[in-house]
This record gives sequence, structure tokens and C-alpha cells, in this order.
Amino acid sequence: MRMSKRISSFQCSPIRRLVPFSREAEAKGIHVIHLNIGQPDIKTPNEALAAIHSFEPETIAYGLSEGEFPLRKALVNYYLKYGVYGLGESDILITTGGSEAIQFSILTLCDPGDEIIIPEPYYTNVGTFSNIAMVNLVPVTSSIDDGFSLPPIASFAEKIGPKTRGILLCSPNNPTGHVYSRKELVALLTLCKEKDIFLIVDEVYREFCYDGQDFVSILTFPEFQDRVICVDSFSKRFSMCGARIGALVSRNKEVVSNALKLAQARLCPPAVEEEAATAALSAPDEYIQGVKREYEERRNFFFDKVSRIEGVKCSLPKGAFYFVAELPIEDAEDFAVFMLKEFSYEGATLMFAPAEDFYVTKGLGRNQIRLAYVLCKEELEKAALCLEKGLEAYKSRKH
Ligand SMILES: Cc1ncc(COP(=O)(O)O)c(C=O)c1O
Repeated sequence: MRMSKRISSFQCSPIRRLVPFSREAEAKGIHVIHLNIGQPDIKTPNEALAAIHSFEPETIAYGLSEGEFPLRKALVNYYLKYGVYGLGESDILITTGGSEAIQFSILTLCDPGDEIIIPEPYYTNVGTFSNIAMVNLVPVTSSIDDGFSLPPIASFAEKIGPKTRGILLCSPNNPTGHVYSRKELVALLTLCKEKDIFLIVDEVYREFCYDGQDFVSILTFPEFQDRVICVDSFSKRFSMCGARIGALVSRNKEVVSNALKLAQARLCPPAVEEEAATAALSAPDEYIQGVKREYEERRNFFFDKVSRIEGVKCSLPKGAFYFVAELPIEDAEDFAVFMLKEFSYEGATLMFAPAEDFYVTKGLGRNQIRLAYVLCKEELEKAALCLEKGLEAYKSRKH
């Protein structure tokens, strides 16, 4: 029977599509080090776990479509720590992960055929969300050679046309680790105002900025507030990826009231997890500071090891917990399959995400991979060794 043309053209996520191969390797007894996905091994705050254990209603009922009030109230307080003042509970829509907040943002702003400008490489799942909305992503390419820094504002300006509805950024960035400065954000906001379009910023890695760099939230520019949407999530910050709680935040009432139509159709966010998320926000600041310290140490450790591998090019990420590495091979997808199907070193192998599908422009990123440094140092050490030995084995196999 026929499937829709739309779904047939969708990609399988490069982060997950090689899982059948990793399962096969694991079934053979090989230890697969999963750096393909941003799934941290860090403990969820005790406060969140305790809230789940004490959740004992007689009936698990539907909640509010916009999310329970105590959670939105706790978020308003949490944002104060990032200099976000004057936000109200009604500016926040709780979503099923940051993923749903991205999807709601695109569907709220765009008609089929409209365009969103996005720096590439970009968070690959945005590609599927825009496909669902039949929206075209228009890339502005950033380069590994200058640390994936923001391309000149003129290269955004020249892509803006009658169908452009907004620019979508991710800061700190997945997959590059770039963190947008206040100056860069002001320049983009000014452009958005001039062209009367929106700026959507995915801030799900807000806490993870390194080298003493301050994070600047897009919610801290009152003069531009009517054209800003912030995407947020509890997944990474509190190591609660499976809880599926995120948020769409905007002071533009029309955005929130229209996105609420989508939220009402999907009824409500998951109830138990909303309790857990509310409790997570009461965790002491030391929790987040400890997690951030841990990622910064992991970054320093792992980046140092990977950047020393012969022929590998990468630039130090300033935030989040990923970086892109360019490998001395032609086809990173083929190499990824080789690593899972044919290779192991001391009983282990490495799984990573081929980076080609993090680009809109066809042909870019073919020899690049995205690595997520979300595991402990011991695993990261093995991972770097597997990458080095795997590249050697792959090259000698090819010749
Ligand atoms: C940049 C970015 N945005 C959004 C998400 C989605 O997160 P979730 O739906 O788990 O909140 C992810 C997940 O990896 C991400 O990296």
C-alpha cells in the first residue's frame, strides 16, 4: 500500500538510524560506546526522582494543555537567574520536550512553502520538523575552519525573501558548540526587526557554556520581545531526557495563543514528568554547577585526545556537549557502519552520528561526524582510542 510522498521523503535520524547495527554488535558481546546521541550518564536530581516516587494519584488525569501552573511558575523564577525579568506564567507553554516546542514554533509561524533561515550544520531533527510543516530550511553555512563561528550578518540578510518567516538558532549549539554573543544576537535581532521576521532560539543547553563565558538568553532583549521565541528543555540540564518536558517561551501573546491550539489538540504534557520537572527546578544550584563542571572537564579531556589523532580536524566547542570532527576519509556513514559491523578494539567500538544530515546543503559534511561527550572519562578515553584504531583499520581495509 502507498505511503504519503511527504513521509517517504523524510530522513531517518542520523543520530539513531544505525541503532540496528549497534544492537547486532552488542549481541555479539562488543561494548558499544554511544557518543552518537546526547544521552548523558549523569544522575537526575534527587528532587525529581523523589517527586516521581511520591506521585500516587488514584487517577492519572489529563492536565492543562499549556502545562501545570506550578511548573510554569517555577520556570518564571528559574529564568530570573538568567536575567530574564518580567516574564509571566502565561508566556510559557509546556511542551513534550524541546522537540515539540521547535515543531510548534515552526507550525505557528509558517505556511507550507515558507522559509526559515538556519546556520548549518544544524540540529538535524529540525529538518524533519520543517518537513512536517512543509517549510523549507534555507542554510547559511558555517565552517569548521573558523570554529563554526557565526557567518557575517550580510549572509543572513541576502537569504531573506518574501517567504522568510524567521531565523532559527541554537545556542549553545548542537552540533558545533558555538555560543552566540550578545553582539551577534543584537545584530540578528536588528536584522529580524528590519525585515519583520522572527528569531527562534533553541536554548536547551543554556547551562553549558565553558571557559567562563556568560550565556546570553534571547529573552533578555525587551526591545525585541515581540519577535522572539525561546525553545527550552529539561532533558539535558537535569539529565531527564526520557521525561519529555520542554517549553516554548514567548512574550508575543499571539504566538503563545496560536501555539496553544496545537497544544490543546495533543491534550497535555506528560503528568508525572511535569511533577518531576517542577521538583527538578528546586534542586540546589550546586547540582547544575557540578554538571557543568563535569562536562567542561569531559570536553577538555576528550577534545584533546580526538584532536591529536592523525588527520582529524576539529575546533574546540565553547558550549553544549558536542563537537564536529572532520575525518581523513570520504564517507563518514560508511565508516560508521564499518565501526559497528566490522571493527572492535579490546572488545569495544564507537558509535557516532555521521554529520552529513546536519547540513541542508547536499554534499557538505560527508567526511564529518558529530561526537557527544556525554559519558564518563573512562569511556571517553576508550572512545578516542577506538576512533584512532578504527581509522587505521578502515584505511588499511580500503587499500
Ligand atoms: C538543540 C536541541 N534542541 C532540542 C532537542 C530536543 O530535546 P528534547 O525534546 O529531549 O527536549 C535536542 C536534543 O538533543 C537538541 O540537541
